[in-house]
Amino acid sequence: MTGRRIAETWTSRLGVIMAVAGSAVGLGNFLRFPGLAAQYGSGAFMIAYFISLILLGIPVCWAEWTLGRYAGQRGFNSSPGIFYALIRHPAGKYIGVLGAVIPVVIYMYYVYIESWCLGYAYYYLTGQMNLGSEVSAYGDFFARFVGAVEDGLTLGRGHNQVIIFLAIAFTFNFVIIYRGIAKGIELFCRFAMPALIVLALIIVARVLTLGTPDPARPDQNLLNGLGFMWNPGDVGHQLRNPELWLAAAGQIFFSLSVGFGVIVTYASYLSEKDDVVLSGLTASSANEFCEVALGGMITVPAAFVFLGTAGIMGQGTFALGFNVLPLVFSKMPLPWLFGGMFFTLLFLAAVTSSLSMLQPGIAYLEEGLGLNRKQSITLLGMLTALGCLFMVYFSKDLKALDTVDFWVGTFLIFVMATIILICFGWVMGVDQGWVEAHKGAELRLPKFFKPIFKYVSPLYLLTIFAFWVLFKVFGWDRATGTFTPTEYVTDLVGAEPNNVARLGVLLILVVTGFFMVLAAAAGRRWDRARQATPTRKGTPQ
Ligand code: PFF
Repeated sequence: MTGRRIAETWTSRLGVIMAVAGSAVGLGNFLRFPGLAAQYGSGAFMIAYFISLILLGIPVCWAEWTLGRYAGQRGFNSSPGIFYALIRHPAGKYIGVLGAVIPVVIYMYYVYIESWCLGYAYYYLTGQMNLGSEVSAYGDFFARFVGAVEDGLTLGRGHNQVIIFLAIAFTFNFVIIYRGIAKGIELFCRFAMPALIVLALIIVARVLTLGTPDPARPDQNLLNGLGFMWNPGDVGHQLRNPELWLAAAGQIFFSLSVGFGVIVTYASYLSEKDDVVLSGLTASSANEFCEVALGGMITVPAAFVFLGTAGIMGQGTFALGFNVLPLVFSKMPLPWLFGGMFFTLLFLAAVTSSLSMLQPGIAYLEEGLGLNRKQSITLLGMLTALGCLFMVYFSKDLKALDTVDFWVGTFLIFVMATIILICFGWVMGVDQGWVEAHKGAELRLPKFFKPIFKYVSPLYLLTIFAFWVLFKVFGWDRATGTFTPTEYVTDLVGAEPNNVARLGVLLILVVTGFFMVLAAAAGRRWDRARQATPTRKGTPQ
């Protein structure tokens, strides 16, 4: 099946760790995490967060590394191929389609956000970020810059700066991906990861030396800012809020890039001699360092010092990053420098993540249609460009982006993570999975992870998922026991449906349908290869 392709591999262990860590470290670390932690009360949030990390994030991560390498050994690099090899049933390839749909669709909006970071970095570094001093001024700037004021705004004359940045970011990703696994992704991540960590350390050092910038407001000092981010509040009470547990689990998945089909793809380029246990743990630890120790030290403490609690509470992820922080930088000496560094850091973090969203699609088009790299990149480029245009055009209130993020970036991730856990613990079987994971391993897993893989993680995940559906889809009110379907549902099937939301879901369905058809076609070739040479590489055995 893969006979026509030259197998690609990583050139070094550090390289693959950097690439997986690069996928994990992204906007989620520097914007999403601090926003959520501050919103739910950090002490309590961190407890739920670490429990999710140990019971969900790390087990799913190890399962993905192991399953990916296992299937890669059998010649499969695309998620449908990988699950076909694992499940050894034609249904496997359709199930695996999710692992191609999720990253490809997320790319369509993630690269748009990436282009905002590039735009902000450019405006800062060239001294053009001068937008008055009111939060609202920045709010207006952001809303106009990204087109949140009106559909199609950024495609019109005079408002289309963001399109230039988008074109640059989009092309940049494809140029890197075109160079391949080793010369493209690995090389870029080897440079970008250390660079972004250095930038983050400089910014953390700056934040930690802010002191009490406004003597008239002695309360707004650095220590209180750190306390606001990190002091435990009424932990017992906060932990009783199920939404906090849902947010913590969702953040763990999003941040570690697990449950997307990305790590299985990356791991499929490993050889059997390569370690997966220690590498998976190292990449995850690098992500946690960037998230908690760096991401948790910048946005919220800095915003508190200059704006107090009011500047932070109730701000969404985007508002915190693109409205509040520019205001904070404007109150610091050398705003162009720190603003420029921060948004460059965000841009680099976003690129290393978005690259990982493209590789599963490329691998699938290569494997499913028998295309070469150039052809599959061209096709994926056209597909993602269309999807991206959709996000850009329907920009009012960022509705298209928000809808797709909800259904793909949260809902489908839960589904995919469940599939991965079941495949590892039940289809492959935890005993064989254990043996597979330990091939070439430089670290032995503690025995208690066996029951975690098999029972605890799937049960925990299914419980979280069930509550998520109850709260976020059916709008369950615990106090009254009533159900009021949320906007995400009423937008689609309510009395007053929202056409943009409907189109967003249609987009997801169209991509899924296209990939399903591809799976059917590819499956026939894979079956023929299996019948012809039952033990050949590239056939599920
Ligand atoms: N982990 C990335 C972040 O924290 O920003 C987001 C991400 C990466 C999502 C890769 C999806 C993906 F396939």
